[in-house]
Amino acid sequence: MAKDNIYVPTPAKIIDYVIESGDTFSIKLDVKMEHDPGQFVMCSIPGIGESAISICSFSRDYLELNIREVGNVTNAISRLKKDDSLLIRGPYGHGYPMDDFKDNSIVIIGGGSGVAPLKGIIEYVDTRRSDFKYIDIFIGYRTPEDILFKKQLKSWKTNHKVHLSVDKNPNKTKFDGKVGFVTELLKQSDFDNKGRIAVICGPPIMIKFVVGILKDKGFNEDQIFVSAERMMQCGVGFCGHCMINGKYCCKDGPVFRYDEIKDLPEK
Ligand SMILES: Cc1cc2nc3c(=O)[nH]c(=O)nc-3n(C[C@H](O)[C@H](O)[C@H](O)COP(=O)(O)OP(=O)(O)OC[C@H]3O[C@@H](n4cnc5c(N)ncnc54)[C@H](O)[C@@H]3O)c2cc1C
Ligand code: FES
Repeated sequence: MAKDNIYVPTPAKIIDYVIESGDTFSIKLDVKMEHDPGQFVMCSIPGIGESAISICSFSRDYLELNIREVGNVTNAISRLKKDDSLLIRGPYGHGYPMDDFKDNSIVIIGGGSGVAPLKGIIEYVDTRRSDFKYIDIFIGYRTPEDILFKKQLKSWKTNHKVHLSVDKNPNKTKFDGKVGFVTELLKQSDFDNKGRIAVICGPPIMIKFVVGILKDKGFNEDQIFVSAERMMQCGVGFCGHCMINGKYCCKDGPVFRYDEIKDLPEK
């Protein structure tokens, strides 16, 4: 897909479809699109509507999206099958400044569906492993049944230090992690801010606690990057729907350095 066509919705064929959890699925699209980890595309189904979805892969050969069924568009996409098509336009927004992270260690902290854009960072790092030092991955879900990317988790554990937690385990499901908030795992870990960048994506309340813990560990606000989600309509800075603290989430974000945005509002 050519860069100058980012405003034009283009058909994208589904070449793989994976059910990740009760309400979440991943699709792989037959789309070659240059993008940075953390950027998003607008996905649409004619007659239904359009939604912003983060790119959750890093490949020049295909595009992966992880989608939670919450309403009209996401439910309609969930009903598509392998070989069906949807329309996408993009990529949009500012992703993670991966070049600036070079030679640093990265602490990746994700909660729930917020793990999706962070998967793109992990895949980026894995293609350029020698550019980065240690990678610590902290991921939290509500229950073991909500754990996403189970297939990829195995290779993440082989290549990086993964700290996985679930808030609760009502069905006593066997899984390789801890029960408790992911913020507890972060608190207990003994890294400091030296030569480290932290990237966070998850619910605003989780971001707030994580930033506090990172600051206690000595992180400065310019070492912390957050991915913010806001209701979007145009996705390109026209409608004003997505403003946070005077910035357009779609155009200036969705990834912000924490000192540029500060105190992410909870809604
Ligand atoms: C930059 C960005 C990246 C995103 N990445 C992903 C992703 O990777 N995977 C994914 O599943 N979703 C992602 N979302 C959220 C996704 O865009 C919305 O869930 C989707 O638009 C809902 O559309 P719908 O028609 O299915 O639901 P609707 O019928 O429009 O709404 C269902 C419910 O969700 C609420 N809602 C809709 N959009 C949002 C939103 N943006 N934030 C909070 N509540 C909302 C509505 O108020 C309503 O209560 C992202 C959003 C943004 C802004
Ligand atoms: S979604 Fe329209 S200005 Fe951001």
